[in-house]
Amino acid sequence: MCGIIAYIGDEDAAPILLEGLRRLEYRGYDSAGIITIDNAGEFELKKDVGRVQDIHNELNLLDLEGHIGIAHTRWATHGGVTQANAHPHVSNNSKIAVIHNGIVENYKDLKSLLVSKGFHFDSQTDTEVIPNLIEYWMDSKGLSFIDSTIKTLQSLEGNFAVVIIDRDSRTIVGAKNGSPLVLGVGDRKKNEFFLASDIPAFLDRTKDVVYLYDGDMVILQSESSSPRATMKGSYKILDFRARTKKPIIRPIQSVSWSLAHAAKGEFDHFMLKEIAEQVETIQKAAAQDRELVQSVTESIRNAKGVFLVASGSSYHACLSASYLFAKLASFHINTVIASEFSQYESFLKPETLVIAVSQSGETIDVLDAVKTAKEKGCHIVSIVNVMGSSLTQISHKTLLLNSGPEISVLSTKTYTAQLALLSLLAYSLAGRYEEGLSKLKFLWNIVYNLTAATTRTKIKELSTTLANHEHIFVLGRGSLYATALEAALKIKEVSYIHAEAFAGGELKHGPIAMIKKGTPIVIFVSKDTEKTILSNAMEVKSRGGYIIGIGPEPIESFDFFIKVPESNSLNPICQIIPIQILAYQLAVILGHDPDKPRNLAKSVTVR
Ligand code: M6R
Repeated sequence: MCGIIAYIGDEDAAPILLEGLRRLEYRGYDSAGIITIDNAGEFELKKDVGRVQDIHNELNLLDLEGHIGIAHTRWATHGGVTQANAHPHVSNNSKIAVIHNGIVENYKDLKSLLVSKGFHFDSQTDTEVIPNLIEYWMDSKGLSFIDSTIKTLQSLEGNFAVVIIDRDSRTIVGAKNGSPLVLGVGDRKKNEFFLASDIPAFLDRTKDVVYLYDGDMVILQSESSSPRATMKGSYKILDFRARTKKPIIRPIQSVSWSLAHAAKGEFDHFMLKEIAEQVETIQKAAAQDRELVQSVTESIRNAKGVFLVASGSSYHACLSASYLFAKLASFHINTVIASEFSQYESFLKPETLVIAVSQSGETIDVLDAVKTAKEKGCHIVSIVNVMGSSLTQISHKTLLLNSGPEISVLSTKTYTAQLALLSLLAYSLAGRYEEGLSKLKFLWNIVYNLTAATTRTKIKELSTTLANHEHIFVLGRGSLYATALEAALKIKEVSYIHAEAFAGGELKHGPIAMIKKGTPIVIFVSKDTEKTILSNAMEVKSRGGYIIGIGPEPIESFDFFIKVPESNSLNPICQIIPIQILAYQLAVILGHDPDKPRNLAKSVTVR
């Protein structure tokens, strides 16, 4: 939710910030803004509602002057989508500006305090209390900008990442508490540093990053009229929760992601590019450090109670895997939606293992669940795509998906990567690690064909047929029931057509009432569920439904068939791919942006 980018260095800030905003737009796209300190030492601010490019076309963001600035793209939480609510927000005295991701839960109290001291507010956001509190502490108590910022950060309740810029001292401060923020260390000759919600925002400038932890506050300073300004070309990290200002040392790490990963290349949209990348990403997810997989396997084996916890698509990957753990290793895993996890608190013991699965590693529901489990002494393993994310910081062990950045809001390549890695774990638990690995390698060819242009053309015909329907139903049994849930999510997220999934056997318990002539139903078929799911297909057919079969062989009752070769326990990895393509094409036909569906944001950092 919301994208943050800040720059300090010898180059013009505006082009760097604008490019950063474009790369971060997947995190929120209601409104955007940039503020810089110009060469005369004044703030220059431009912000508006709409997409970054439209705002730039309208306001020319590039003519903002200066070598230091901060920028933000918003996903509205407090306050509607208006120009006044767009970030950055500036203090009453126009000296402090703030961009913010997260929620200030106690903002009403802080606002009342400030109002009682004579402050006025221009927006309905919670964010606006932050620059004004800093101004208040500076003016009323004579504190420095840094001390006022520390005092302000200490008074904020809730999860946040903030970046604050002080006009007079030409200083940028970034602070993190539960929301993502990473420091980029740029060209040292140009004294350049970046702060961003996500690495792709500055990946064209540097691959050297410092992962920040909760409580970290980074100070970056430009040349200044202040005699105390000695920090140009360096940075300092403090713990804003601590009593002393003892510097914290964090390592600079080099990321393996390349710029090509964060660019669309020959594709019209990131979603399509990321669907196509699955040929490689499934393999990369399976190429794990063997010892680490063995050690996680041992943790699973020795635990008294194992939970898989996740949200959205990641939850569907967990549900799918739970069938595999049962089938291959006769092992029961409790699979719980992260936001519901607190209901299971009484089952959590020090011997319990919690496996948290999250692409971003920043989903607040997942972080909350893990924090609850940690308080009970549970062992935490995470499966994450974004290295250094909050979830990796609070886990005992982490397995990385290695999918590269996923820019489209919809999970595609990271969903199948999660399935691949969880399948490997299930095979490992069954004592069949090598077999699992070789089966995953064998998928390469199937995935290549499924993502090829010929398959995409075939599915395009289907999207034209389905585009005008109001409802699409999806059926599956066993682990393909989880695939059905994921398929329905993909369709509705991006096409806005109502799609609903059922376990095949549930159809006759109610949903069949919805079937009439022409109602489209997607049916996932596999060898082990064939008999029963096909009898469900017949029930639909005899009521006039339009059946789209996905599986190894065409059946007479299918009106449309997409062949996906049988890969037994790994069927869920392959069978979802045609529906990812279908969802993408429905969005394109219906004129929606597949990378930025309405109301959604890539990582959900609010409850
Ligand atoms: O980053 P996470 O895997 O924790 O995200 C979980 C969900 O928010 C995410 O899967 C969401 O459902 C996607 N929009 C699915 O396409």
